[in-house]
Amino acid sequence: MKTVLITGGNKGIGFETAKQLSKLGYKVYIGCRSENNALEALKSLKNQGLNSVDWIQLDVADSKSIEQGKIELASKIDSLDILINNAGISGIQPQKFCHNNIKTLRNIFDTNFFGTVEVTQEFFSLLKKAEQPIIINISSEVASLEIHSSTGKDPNLEIWSAYGASKTAVNAFTVMLANELEDSPFKVFSVTPGYTSTDLNDHQGTKTVEEGATPIVKIANKPTLFTSGKFYGDQGEVSW
Ligand SMILES: NC(=O)c1ccc[n+]([C@@H]2O[C@H](COP(=O)([O-])OP(=O)(O)OC[C@H]3O[C@@H](n4cnc5c(N)ncnc54)[C@H](OP(=O)(O)O)[C@@H]3O)[C@@H](O)[C@H]2O)c1
Repeated sequence: MKTVLITGGNKGIGFETAKQLSKLGYKVYIGCRSENNALEALKSLKNQGLNSVDWIQLDVADSKSIEQGKIELASKIDSLDILINNAGISGIQPQKFCHNNIKTLRNIFDTNFFGTVEVTQEFFSLLKKAEQPIIINISSEVASLEIHSSTGKDPNLEIWSAYGASKTAVNAFTVMLANELEDSPFKVFSVTPGYTSTDLNDHQGTKTVEEGATPIVKIANKPTLFTSGKFYGDQGEVSW
């Protein structure tokens, strides 16, 4: 049975991804910072007949927790087939760069960028033991510099500046890591769920979590159909 770790898997898109992958026969571990939220999530999945799910304690913004999380997972499995770096925050708004928002920016980068990099580095040794290790970094359309530069001034984009920049950095990580790993069995992707109704955007998103999780699950389940080092969404490749 293939193994998956989904950070921030207790709610939203991460939870739905856990549900869909579990239905497809994967052994899914959700990484959660709150035990209560993790147990609630597991209960809900088990009530739906999905028993191949477990959790590990994991706060992606805390190095010690990441280290402990790896030790915990390594005590349960020998190898990790898929890592989905999903945990993320949108941060306090407004986020215009011409305002003094450096604390917000650092905060968001701690979780979205540094968290993604550090979790990947820590769990790398477990991934390396899998036949074809897959790393999926959850990104966003607001990461796309092409979209920002072609759209120009847009109040709908400006409110996400700090968040968007953190996801642009995640995309840089995806490309550079994919290049580093080119001569290995690893595949590394950035994937955007699209604007999805979750707590992250006070449920303003227009997609359901089922729709948001779909491109993530597709790539996790059929990675050979996709090119490592690329950025994907539900309509195929997204421009950087
Ligand atoms: N919703 C959208 O429209 C949209 C669009 C593009 C990309 N995304 C991305 O999709 C991913 C999932 O977001 P979502 O919309 O499902 O949001 P969500 O419902 O708010 O879920 C976010 C998840 O991340 C977890 N998390 C946050 N900080 C964490 C930390 N330091 N350590 C561990 N877990 C942490 C949360 O845990 P707690 O319950 O403990 O807070 C929660 O499980 C994020 O990376 C987001 O940027 C979302």
